[in-house]
Amino acid sequence: MSSVAPSSLVLARAGGDDLDDVMAVMCAAFDKRFGEAWTRPQCAGILPMAGVSLTLARQDGRPAGFSLSRRTADEAELLLIAVHPDAARQGVGRELLKRFMADQRLAGARHLHLEVRDGNPAVELYRHEGFTVAGRRSNYYRGTDGDRFDALTMVLTS
Ligand SMILES: CC(C)(COP(=O)(O)OP(=O)(O)OC[C@H]1O[C@@H](n2cnc3c(N)ncnc32)[C@H](O)[C@@H]1OP(=O)(O)O)[C@@H](O)C(=O)NCCC(=O)NCCS
Repeated sequence: MSSVAPSSLVLARAGGDDLDDVMAVMCAAFDKRFGEAWTRPQCAGILPMAGVSLTLARQDGRPAGFSLSRRTADEAELLLIAVHPDAARQGVGRELLKRFMADQRLAGARHLHLEVRDGNPAVELYRHEGFTVAGRRSNYYRGTDGDRFDALTMVLTS
């Protein structure tokens, strides 16, 4: 069970200066087989864009996870969420997701959505917070060895 957030967990808005920490989590968290991780240039490129926000989670001062999202008018997309394996299954991912939902609603987003690889354990995390599957994109992700994986589109409207 991971329903209680660690007491030493701190979530804060982050930016380009935090990319070393973000990439450390990214490289450790994502399984390269599935082609879901972003590169550093991809992250650096999107950060200055309108409506983009990055949240970094620190546990005992160390980078434990992050989320990256983008809002356009009343819609917001969760682009990435990841937790370092050292901090996994302690509720960090859930806290990041809840923060995304709260921040975006406060900013006026009524429709939240995301893409996730079919079969990713994160699907359960999203379902638990109320997201439902609204569609499927065939062969959306391309893994390092060329394998293709479907994406599910999940949505939450409030
Ligand atoms: C998905 C991820 C962010 C979850 O982070 P986390 O901090 O370990 O998750 P939490 O401890 O908050 O768990 C919340 C719920 O998610 C589900 N979950 C998370 N990891 C799971 C796993 N490995 N297997 C099964 N369910 C899992 C469970 O329902 C869990 O609730 P429970 O522990 O009460 O059963 C993390 O595993 C990760 O970084 N994965 C790699 C990156 C990724 O695929 N991100 C999602 C797509 S961008």
